[in-house]
Amino acid sequence: MKKLIAFAAICISIIAAAYFSSCNNQDAGTEAKNRKEDSLRKVVERGDYLANHVAACIHCHSKRDFSKYSGPVIPGTEGGGGDVFDNTILDAIPGTLYGKNITPDNETGIGSWTDDEILRAITHGIRKNGDTLFPIMPYVNFNKMAKDDLLSIVAYLRTLKPINNKVKDRQLMIPISMAYPAPALQNAVDNNVRPPESDMVKYGEYLSTVADCATCHTPFVKGQLDFARAYAGGNTFNLGECRVNSANITSDSATGLGTWTEERFMNKFTVYRDEKAYNFNPGKQNTVMPLSDYAGMTDYDLKAIYAYMRTVKAVSNQVEKFPK
Ligand code: HEC
Ligand code: HEC
Repeated sequence: MKKLIAFAAICISIIAAAYFSSCNNQDAGTEAKNRKEDSLRKVVERGDYLANHVAACIHCHSKRDFSKYSGPVIPGTEGGGGDVFDNTILDAIPGTLYGKNITPDNETGIGSWTDDEILRAITHGIRKNGDTLFPIMPYVNFNKMAKDDLLSIVAYLRTLKPINNKVKDRQLMIPISMAYPAPALQNAVDNNVRPPESDMVKYGEYLSTVADCATCHTPFVKGQLDFARAYAGGNTFNLGECRVNSANITSDSATGLGTWTEERFMNKFTVYRDEKAYNFNPGKQNTVMPLSDYAGMTDYDLKAIYAYMRTVKAVSNQVEKFPK
């Protein structure tokens, strides 16, 4: 946010400078240049919003502070990688994975990758060297994103401070082809479109896909997501000092979000716009839901997600969020 404000301040001064210079000397060249900077700024801002508040890229690809609720990103580590995802946290992960360094560092990050190579990793799960990424990196979902949203994320990643951090290689207990057989068969993304914002349900579905609400909230059965019970919750995440089960967020009235008003739903996210919310019961209760990220989503986008979640088939599944 601070970065955005600083950026906005720079932009305002650029615009002001452009205004005055165009008044003073009618410099059409400068005006054209500033128009270009303005459109670039909008692309990077969109990428920043998606990567930090919807798609949770930066959340998974930075170091996290789990002494605070939901483990917000430790400032200064944005995109540098190193966060661990393993089977002590979630049974369904067959080994140890590390959030990779996605800063523009040439040696240890993706500084030397072309836009197409980055896009291929994000949407097809194929690394620059041809390896298949483990699908905890939600490329199956990102494959459904509109091309301009994807490109805005790539543009934003290029603006991250390069961090020199060599992230360890994963150790998988099964061949990657068992985890995800056919990344190359994923669709091309060129014709993907973002639904109009006025279609709240469709637009909310798009955002939920990008935010990957389904993976954590859909029950894993023998390592596979049981989509017949989509969003019914109950996956256990072990955070060392405490455990947490993903909630039932289907429209079931007794065990899901059926009785939740829009206001209550919004509040689940918006309370984390305040620093104080992160000190809630530190160490005793915690969550893996990237609340510090989602809290920065616009009210409109959160409302759209709510509208979509109302249409999700009700599944009865009583979940104890914080098991003893
Ligand atoms: C749930 C956590 C998670 C989210 C969300 C996530 N990633 Fe990843 N990402 C990973 C993990 C873990 C890997 C490494 C997987 C492996 O080693 O098989 C990875 C790998 C990558 C790679 C390959 C880098 C390399 O050196 O191999 C890129 C690029 C990448 N992610 C970009 C992104 C972008 C951009 C987003 C958001 C649009 C994103 N990721 C969202 C966890 C995540
Ligand atoms: C990394 C895993 C993860 C992701 C991704 C995730 N959640 Fe959650 N969610 C959880 C867990 C665990 C809980 C239970 C603890 C808590 O309330 O934070 C939870 C709780 C909730 C609750 C509170 C329900 C209740 O009964 O109190 C709502 C609402 C919710 N999630 C909605 C969403 C939506 C919408 C998305 C996508 C925008 C999402 N979640 C993404 C793990 C996740």
